[in-house]
Formats: sequence, C-alpha cells, structure tokens
Amino acid sequence: MGKSRVVYRCTQCGAAQPKWAGQCSTCLEWNTLVDEPEVTGAAAAARPAGPAAVARPIGEVDAGVAAPRPTGLPELDRVLGGGLVAGSVTLLGGEPGIGKSTLLLQLLAQWPQRTLYVTGEESAQQVRLRAERLGAVRPDLWLLPETSLPHVLAAVAAVQPSLLVVDSIQTIADPDLPSAPGSVAQVRACAHRFVALAKEHGLPVVLVGHVTKEGGLAGPRVLEHVVDTVLSFEGDRHHALRLLRAVKHRFGATDELGVFEMAGQGLLGVPDASSLFLTDRRTGVAGSAVVPTLQGQRPLLVEVQALTNRLSPGVPPRRSAQGLDGGRLALLLAVLERRTRLDLSTHEVFASAVGGVRLTEPGADLAVCLALVSALTDQPLPADLVVFGEVGLAGELRQAAHAPRRLAEAARLGFRRAVVPANSPDGPPGLRLSRVATLAEAVAALAVH
Ligand code: TYD
Ligand code: MG
Repeated sequence: MGKSRVVYRCTQCGAAQPKWAGQCSTCLEWNTLVDEPEVTGAAAAARPAGPAAVARPIGEVDAGVAAPRPTGLPELDRVLGGGLVAGSVTLLGGEPGIGKSTLLLQLLAQWPQRTLYVTGEESAQQVRLRAERLGAVRPDLWLLPETSLPHVLAAVAAVQPSLLVVDSIQTIADPDLPSAPGSVAQVRACAHRFVALAKEHGLPVVLVGHVTKEGGLAGPRVLEHVVDTVLSFEGDRHHALRLLRAVKHRFGATDELGVFEMAGQGLLGVPDASSLFLTDRRTGVAGSAVVPTLQGQRPLLVEVQALTNRLSPGVPPRRSAQGLDGGRLALLLAVLERRTRLDLSTHEVFASAVGGVRLTEPGADLAVCLALVSALTDQPLPADLVVFGEVGLAGELRQAAHAPRRLAEAARLGFRRAVVPANSPDGPPGLRLSRVATLAEAVAALAVH
C-alpha cells in the first residue's frame, strides 16, 4: 500500500486541487470540492491492467461486434441508435425518484438471456416487489443485493450474465481503496473496473448514477470520460412525462429524444409524443405559438410560450428563458425590436418551451418571435397555426432542415395553417402555407389570418 495524502477533488469535473476552496478553479462550479486521500506509489501502480491488447491490421478487425442489439424498449433503442452494443458501458443519470431503477428493471425483463441486477440501494425484497408490479419476475433475471466490488465481480463470474446493471455506481466500493464509499476516487475506480469487465467479456453494462441539483456526491460528470454512453433521464417527479436523451454516445448521434410516461405498471413508451406535448395547451390565449421541431430523427410539435410585462421607467428588464437558449432569446429580442419596431426594451420577458423539451435548434426562432409578438400585442395566434424558420440578424427568415417532415407532423395532428420561410416546399394537402421572407412579413401575415 502506498503513501496517501489528502487532495481536494471536484465532484463535478473530477479535477484535483491541493487546497480546499469554495470554487473549483477548473470548471468554476461552486461548493463541489471534497477531500479524499490520494493514493500514490505502489498502490496506484498495482491496479490490475487487464490482459494486453493485440495489434492487428485494421482490415482484420471485426466491425460487426459494434452492432447494437435491440433492448425491447423502442424508446430506449431510439436514443441508443438501435440498442446496446456488446462490451459497451452506459451510464444512466438522473435525479432520485425519476424512474431509473424502473426503466432498468423493465430493460432486464425484456432481455432474452440471463441478466444480473446488482442493487446497492434497495433490498432484494424491495426489488422483487417492484418487479412483480412491472411483470419482471423472470427466471433469467438474477438479483444481487451487494455493494462490495470484489463480491460483485465474483457474482458476475459465477452467474455469467449477458447484461449487467449496477444500481447505483455510487453505492459500490472497493474495500482495498483508502477512500470512503461514494467518494470520487471510489466511484471512478469502480467504474474503471466495470469498463474493463465489459471490454474483456463483450458484456454490455449499464451503471446508474444519481445527480442531485446541488451537484451531490461524485456526480456522474466525473464518469463521463470513462464510459461509452451517458444517458440522462429527466422530467418532473410530479408529472408523468419522462424524457430520455444521450449526453454522450460513442456509437451514434446524441440528438435523439426518448419519451416515456410513468404509469401504474412502470414506464410506457410514447411513440406519438406530439399529441402528448400538446395535451394541456389552451387555445385562444395570447403568447403561445406551436412549432414543429425536430429532435434527432423525430418530429415533435412543441408549444412555445411568452409573457411580457411593462415595467416602470428605470427598472432593468428581466429576461428569462426556459428550455430555450438565453443568448438566442436576447438575440431574437434585439432583432424584433430593430426589424418590427415593437418596443420590448421596457418589458420584462419570460419565454419557455413547454413540457421539458429543449428547443435549441434555430428552426424554433420564428415561434419564439411570434409568441413574443402575440404576448406583447395581446393577440392570440390562430389555434390551428404552426410556425417555423430560422431568424437572421437582418430579420430575414431562413429555411429549417427537414421542412416536409415538420409540415407532415403538423398536418397529422390537425393543424391547417403554417407560416414558413419563403422557399419552403409544399406541405401535405389540407395545410395552407403562408410563405414569408422576413420577420416583419410574418408579423403582417398574422394580421391577415
Ligand atoms: P425509481 O425507478 O425508483 O426512481 P430512481 O431509481 O430514479 O430513484 O422510481 C420511483 C418512482 O416511480 C416512485 O415515485 C414510484 C414511481 N413508480 C410508478 O409510478 N409506477 C411504477 O410502476 C413504479 C415501479 C414506480
Ligand atoms: Mg433507483
């Protein structure tokens, strides 16, 4: 065992600092430094390195091993780009209570071969009760309530699963390491061991990682570099809607969105997400616009809402963006002010994308602008109208990618009119297009409707 001295480790970015400070000097997060003994010398060097890799000509490398295997949960497969890859390590992050354990039990229940679920948080009885509720009590699903890394590895060797889930990585600890369970060093060392295990046996491994709003202990961000895929499970615990997205994905795109609903029998995939996102929409209210957006390959209708309030002179106007980029909102406000002569500088402005979706694509610009215009003028937009298009600094409207798919999704959900950039292709029958070249023309087109 080597000498150890104390270092301060950031739970967000994993950087080591020699002294404690309120702010991490690497990632600039506040209150994220925790002390941990640093292992030096022999103990660090004695870590198992695994078998040596063999170099060979690239043509002899079997590309087929990276083919994803469907999980049986279509919304999860959508985000993973088809399924789980052999030997890959996936980190599923999310706040406590959001539904990570539920999702993974459902995944294990669908898997056609033997699986092992390591639970470090709940007792075997608790998991069994939940599995009964989910219809996941299957002979191939093995359960191990354990937090000690060597015991987990021994169980994997004995059970020989074809899929391993560890819930959660924060509860697993290696007793040979000097740091406390849950510390950054423990979590990282254990994750490294699971990565080695996955690569050695071609075993897909899913690790659960808790994120707390405050940054928490050993936040999954320190693990992002270690694993192949980082999934984030989000939503409001008090509402049924859950969104799954990839933050990092070594085997595919990261812009796909999975949509689930938490029901009495677990998580249900929502293939028709657009109608769900619009369920609570109230029509005839000023400050609302619907945009057919694209989340990866999936067209989705999302409501953008805006609220403006006139302020007394001298009060600095507040701008707040939720689900939208704050910088983009400021830019659109400046363009509106300059190109349509609407006075927004004396108003506080709130704008949001409804339902927890993040509208970061420029195709949503026009919807943000028209929701703002509607809020400011107190004129509701027509209930059967969708709008999309990117807004340029000169107030010009630019085409958004995949316009036909956006228009088709709008028509499918019963929308009859669309305000779109000038060179947009024709939409499906039943959807009347107003083609406009500038933001000012778009505002004028609304008055005609
Ligand atoms: P859970 O999977 O335990 O969350 P996490 O592992 O992310 O902490 O989900 C817990 C919540 O889900 C809990 O509040 C109960 C709810 N739930 C349902 O609504 N329906 C169900 O069928 C199940 C299993 C859980
Ligand atoms: Mg859990």
